[in-house]
Amino acid sequence: MSSDDPTSSLDALVSLCKRRGFIFPSSEIYGGLNGFWDYGPMGVELRRRVLDSWWNQTVRQRDDVVGFDAAIIMHPKVWEASGHLESFFDMMVDCKECKRRMRLDHLLRDATGDGTLGKIFPGFEGREPPGGETPTACPHCGGELTAPREFRLMFETRVGAAADTKSVAYLRPETAQAIFVNYRNVQLSSRMKVPFGIAQVGKAFRNEVTPRNFTFRSREFEQMEMEFFVHPDEERKWFEYWLDERHAWYESLGIRSEKLRRREHDAEELAHYAKYTTDLEYEFPFGWQELEGVANRGNYDLTQHMEASGKDQSYFDPTRQEKYVPSVIETSAGLDRTVLTVLSDAFAVEKVGDEERTVLRFAPHIAPRQLAVFPLVKKLTEPARRIADDLRGRFHTLYDVSGSIGKRYRREDEVGTPFCVTIDFQTLEDDTVTVRDRDSMEQERVGTARLAEYLAAKLSA
Ligand code: GAP
Repeated sequence: MSSDDPTSSLDALVSLCKRRGFIFPSSEIYGGLNGFWDYGPMGVELRRRVLDSWWNQTVRQRDDVVGFDAAIIMHPKVWEASGHLESFFDMMVDCKECKRRMRLDHLLRDATGDGTLGKIFPGFEGREPPGGETPTACPHCGGELTAPREFRLMFETRVGAAADTKSVAYLRPETAQAIFVNYRNVQLSSRMKVPFGIAQVGKAFRNEVTPRNFTFRSREFEQMEMEFFVHPDEERKWFEYWLDERHAWYESLGIRSEKLRRREHDAEELAHYAKYTTDLEYEFPFGWQELEGVANRGNYDLTQHMEASGKDQSYFDPTRQEKYVPSVIETSAGLDRTVLTVLSDAFAVEKVGDEERTVLRFAPHIAPRQLAVFPLVKKLTEPARRIADDLRGRFHTLYDVSGSIGKRYRREDEVGTPFCVTIDFQTLEDDTVTVRDRDSMEQERVGTARLAEYLAAKLSA
């Protein structure tokens, strides 16, 4: 996409999202709060459909994965054992002139096209750049930069009335740890046998240095994570399996295949818990970026928790007659990031005759609103209302009588409604209505007796 192509513009999407009730800045009347976002009526529907699709595919349609939902605040020792207290931070620098705050890895990546410190400083294995080789000039204004400083990503809070250090707790930066510390509870109570998975959807919080690119990097976001417990000999097999599954899920949302790719982490980039990781990436208007990480976490987390809690986390495998600590293959996706991806991928501005039409081409099964029903003129309100009420039992339906029919179609195009049903004078004569397809803009006459079945088939296609 060229940069003057309006469909490549994130600003146009942000503006559409606000105008049509998908996403608003949090606490906007107070100027907003950087890194926090609210979902409007259209956004919340889209979010739920994406989430339902993930939950159905990951949990309901399988017998080897079960669901789970944990408290956001956990015992602080969880974060000590998991390594987050020690390792979960970003390095940042500030510009002394323009006061911009930047993530060091982003600065280096922008300067070199590669964010991995090891490539920039050969032989360097850690996260901290060696002294003297840090960029010193701000890329925005040329001003002097401060020395890099550590920026802890976990939000702190206090539990209970005492304000001492013992009351410190953290908002979870990933949902995964709750799965690890509950894996024995879940496995025993649901009689799961390795290989099996535990899936969870929930809020995660990171005090990101530079929240940016709309909801892409937020400070409060929702994760859809699944931890799959396997025998250590089968790590690679299950890793490849889940990578394929997850890739296919994004395609099932209607996201264009050529906009999706896989990228393996190199050693310097790996998280402290991972043996190997491959990201699924999407080409956003602001470049290729991570959508989801599929990681082999080995038995790092279970072993850490076993040591820290003193509670045995091993599993006796009845088939192999062997006791071991399972390895974990993790699929970790962001709900908000997937919603942004679906929006970016569906967003188009095109010419129709002399006019411009903005359209969100969502796959019908995830469209936030499935149908809109219009009487051609106010006189036809009564039969149109009846048809809308009938359809509402099965589909998420809007009844709309205001404005010209052309304006009503355009409004629905902008929120991605796949089909519009119009009741006109012919309806009174032969019980047919027109069904207008959002993408082709073609209209077909369909009898009211088979309308619901006709639409159900189209919407599940
Ligand atoms: N449990 C592993 C884990 O949390 P991660 O790569 O840090 O791995 C997984 O995060 C996913 O969570 C990312 O691929 C992304 O979709 C989402 N995510 C992470 N940080 C985010 C942020 N600040 N804003 C929105 N989504 C985020």
